[in-house]
Amino acid sequence: MPPSTSPTGFFRQARDLVCDGIPLADIAAAEGTPLYVYSAAALRERYGAIDDAFGGYPHALHYALKANSTLAIARLLRGLGSAADANSIWEIEVARKAGFDPANIVFTGVGKSPAELECAVGLGVKAINVESAGELARVEAIAHRQGRTARVAVRVNPDIDARSHPHISTGLKINKFGLPVDTARELLSTLTSRPSLQLVAVHVHIGSQITVLDPLRRAATLAAELSTHLLAQGVPLEYIDLGGGFGVSYDGRPVPTAREYVGALVEAVRQTDLPIVLEPGRAVAAPSGVLIARVIDVKPRTASSDFIVIDAGMTEFLRPALYSAFHRIEAVSPRDAAPHAYEIVGPVCESSDVVGRDRTLPTVEVGDLIAIRDAGAYGAVMASNYNRRPFPAEVLVDDGSWRVIRRRQTVDDMIAQEEP
Ligand code: LLP
Repeated sequence: MPPSTSPTGFFRQARDLVCDGIPLADIAAAEGTPLYVYSAAALRERYGAIDDAFGGYPHALHYALKANSTLAIARLLRGLGSAADANSIWEIEVARKAGFDPANIVFTGVGKSPAELECAVGLGVKAINVESAGELARVEAIAHRQGRTARVAVRVNPDIDARSHPHISTGLKINKFGLPVDTARELLSTLTSRPSLQLVAVHVHIGSQITVLDPLRRAATLAAELSTHLLAQGVPLEYIDLGGGFGVSYDGRPVPTAREYVGALVEAVRQTDLPIVLEPGRAVAAPSGVLIARVIDVKPRTASSDFIVIDAGMTEFLRPALYSAFHRIEAVSPRDAAPHAYEIVGPVCESSDVVGRDRTLPTVEVGDLIAIRDAGAYGAVMASNYNRRPFPAEVLVDDGSWRVIRRRQTVDDMIAQEEP
């Protein structure tokens, strides 16, 4: 791509927050709120940064669809050369609708039902990343019945603390994910005599929103050691799958760059000579999207602060309520007014429905637009219909124009599967 001089993503032009140069206020005026807006340029840039960081080292990026699987987003990433990581058979179906070939899909996840496994084996996905001896046996039985050889990777739980939020840390042995290293080692040694299974990789994924490299480096080293051991036994591994987890800066504090992240992984794995598979989700999608909401009420809270009630809450964006996640919240077109203290809350009948605690914004009035930053990953995908609130619309800004990539859900959409 030629070097671009104009910034990508979300930034201010004069006072107004824009997406790739288009005022968010214009998009919200046309499409209403709550509204997710994504920047295609930012998605390309963030995917490209991870891809480029490998230099000549062989690799495949399997974008983690769980972060954001709206078809247009998935298609855009496929167009950049991405493969896919799917966490359910339904994500696999969506991936296929977005044009991903099963041979470019890894099927991950701690609980795959027999029906899901049946389907994945039949499709011949790139790998089923198995999480237990029982699952491996089920895959084997299905493959045998189908007269196929199932390609599998084994997810190892390295007992490493990812130092992220406990809800999204997966690499400790107390977590439900993967197989302990010793058990994995024993299990892997049985694989050469199981003709319905082809072991293609060792897999680790120790959590999400990881902003220190050391745990990732240690997990990669462990996966590399295990791979070296298997290669020495003559197992023809094809690659090493280091999962996702690369974090982003939600609060503006520095985090490792893509180059530092990938550099650490390549160093840990290089002696195996194996290509690296990564499953990045958040690092690609989070900063590439915002959620726009409108202020529907302002009311007193304490002597010195007010509540701002907005038309998006835990139903549209669950992360703050579920993980106490911090997201920058800004006025789209701030008033020329004194700063004021606010608690920014959603409309749902739950006290946990707080989107931003103890924030300071230039004085806000009813009708103003608010942007919740870095909402492109684990935003729209985690929306619910609680309080019968419809899924919000989603817009993609691409090359100077924008389009609706998912229309706002209607009540008719919502009740379509119900007894009339
Ligand atoms: N691979 C596997 C096996 C995973 O379980 C995940 C995320 C990823 C890749 C992608 O990880 P990423 O690169 O996005 O960190 N809802 C939570 C995040 C849950 C992540 C679950 N697994 C949140 O909003 O923070």
